Amino acid sequence: MNSEKIEIFDTTLRDGEQVPGCKLNKEQKLIIAERLDHLGIDVIEAGFPISSPGDFESVSEISKLVKNAKVCGLTRANKKDIEAAAEALQYAKRPRIHTGIGTSDSHIKYKFNSTREDILERAVQAVKYAKSFVEDVEFYAEDAGRTDNAYLAKVCEEVIKVGATVLNIPDTTGYCLPEEYGMKIKYLKENVKGIENAVISCHCHNDLGLATANSIAGITNGARQIECTINGLGERAGNTALEEVVMILKQHKNLNLHTNVNSRMLNEMSTLVSDLMGMPVQPNKAIVGANAFSHSSGIHQDGVIKNRATYEIIDPEEVGVNESSIVLTARSGRSALAYRFKNIGFDITKNELDFLYQEFLKIADIKKEIDNNDLHLIMKSFNLKIG
Ligand code: KIV
Ligand code: ZN
Repeated sequence: MNSEKIEIFDTTLRDGEQVPGCKLNKEQKLIIAERLDHLGIDVIEAGFPISSPGDFESVSEISKLVKNAKVCGLTRANKKDIEAAAEALQYAKRPRIHTGIGTSDSHIKYKFNSTREDILERAVQAVKYAKSFVEDVEFYAEDAGRTDNAYLAKVCEEVIKVGATVLNIPDTTGYCLPEEYGMKIKYLKENVKGIENAVISCHCHNDLGLATANSIAGITNGARQIECTINGLGERAGNTALEEVVMILKQHKNLNLHTNVNSRMLNEMSTLVSDLMGMPVQPNKAIVGANAFSHSSGIHQDGVIKNRATYEIIDPEEVGVNESSIVLTARSGRSALAYRFKNIGFDITKNELDFLYQEFLKIADIKKEIDNNDLHLIMKSFNLKIG
């Protein structure tokens, strides 16, 4: 069976940039957009043009720069927002307007003090208006995760009728469980007339740590686009991490789904975004964290030295990391120590190792991590001892 493509919609420059302290200037945004285009991203959400003159300018410059990806601008469901997005996107080779409105009862009552009927009408008018500027219009039903399925289906059906090409079903608050989110997508596939004319998109937040799991549940139930960010950046606890969904699809070939992303660029992309945003990546972050391919316990190290696949499901080169690392701590074993000595040019015998290992443990109990300098010192004192 032929593998089906999942479109990757990157929103690092919009949802990711909403994170306090992660503000980027125009030049930095252009650098990231250019690299995202090389990475093989299908849609780059470049910003929210009405939000500030700076963001407008960035979306406009990114539109001129990007060669392959679709460039997208966010709007609320009103004319001024849509006009600003259309203007900012005018130079894009493949422009997309991303418009929408909150559809959950909570949003309808507290944000809009409105009714379901009125919100439906505003959604339809927004898509119609956006469609008068560009062919490609994505509609988001904000807080879809907590929206009643029958009403959500009705909204989706009506916006498809007026030309929405993509339906974004955000779990805005990160509330859904994977099965629940998956069932929501399935429900829409089965109950929205005309659904075959639109792509369903997953936009999941990570408030309960389920963003990636929910996005995968979405695509296994029929969605064909995932909205995500480098390093999982985004409002509050963040969005689905791009590197995670790309590698899940790569590692689980039985899903028969793939992306266009060059996974070998993932590590450098993560570092670039982290450096420019001044937002460190947690060391234990899946795929791109500093410890993602490092082994420190003796049992694991022994296994990895014998065969990498015993404790690693991804070849580090697949994500642009040169090699796995064997970190020496007080929990490390003899094989790890011998391996690290060998790496710095010492081929040691079993008897030598017995002695060196005891010396190593004495220092490792004091220091958190033993580096190559320490190994040289241990070897030096050993040589002095044996004369
Ligand atoms: O989380 C969300 O609902 C959003 C929309 C604006 C797409 O970011
Ligand atoms: Zn969001």
